[in-house]
Amino acid sequence: MAEKFIGVFDSGFGGLNTMRGIVRMLPQYNYIYLGDSARAPYGHRSKKQVYEFTTQAVDFLFKNNCELVVLACNTASSDALRKIQKEYLPKHYPHKKVLGVLIPAVEHGVSVTKNKRIGVMATIGTVKSKAFEREMQKLDPEIKVLQQACPLLVPLVEEGKHNSKAAEAILKKYVSPLADRNIDTLLLGCTHYGILEKQIKKHVGKNVQVISETNAVPSKLKDYLKRHKDIANKIGRNKKILFYSTGPISKFEKLGSKFFGSKIKVTGVDLN
Ligand code: DGL
Repeated sequence: MAEKFIGVFDSGFGGLNTMRGIVRMLPQYNYIYLGDSARAPYGHRSKKQVYEFTTQAVDFLFKNNCELVVLACNTASSDALRKIQKEYLPKHYPHKKVLGVLIPAVEHGVSVTKNKRIGVMATIGTVKSKAFEREMQKLDPEIKVLQQACPLLVPLVEEGKHNSKAAEAILKKYVSPLADRNIDTLLLGCTHYGILEKQIKKHVGKNVQVISETNAVPSKLKDYLKRHKDIANKIGRNKKILFYSTGPISKFEKLGSKFFGSKIKVTGVDLN
């Protein structure tokens, strides 16, 4: 029987930061990472298109022996996850699972805020979907969510310019309005922003707790696998990690190695 994997999907490199956290916490499993860099960013795309691209990615990962897929992309988690779980999986893969990154981050944020004012930095698509607000208020209706769309950050990260002077100026523009609105918690609602965590912390100030999915998602996945032994037991434990990208390979290997924290070897794939 073919060896099984946990699939991790993102629109590009950003999810490698989340993947790094997952592999650190759960090093025993096999993983496949897929980044759709050729079509990133997803943040400004229509809900319909995000759904279409995400189902293509999920299909690729399941066909390559993933048992469970984590959508390490907030835009995909906000715009496509519910429909995938309700319609796509029952029809095409009734025995497989797809999880998102939104709920782990939401649970973490709601559990740490004291003044119930939470800032969220995210893509335009995620902000428009209001998914963070909806999910946080489900847990605590008194939570006030202050959202900031940050369309320039993903291209900056995908270009590897996250340490540039331009990045500092752009971050200041996005973070200052949130910092001025008395938030005590700031959620980085886009996988790519984890890479900017240190700089964001500097701009938002010491009194605000910054939550990155790199920290929130791995422990929630660990809990999930503990509760779903039937799934966990199917996944191979040979520490095999495969990386696929729809975009230029050498760029993905160079930048991806930085985000993942060690050298990666990438295979090209066409999802169309
Ligand atoms: N990785 C996606 C997310 O977390 C954003 C990047 C994009 O816009 O493609 O929302």
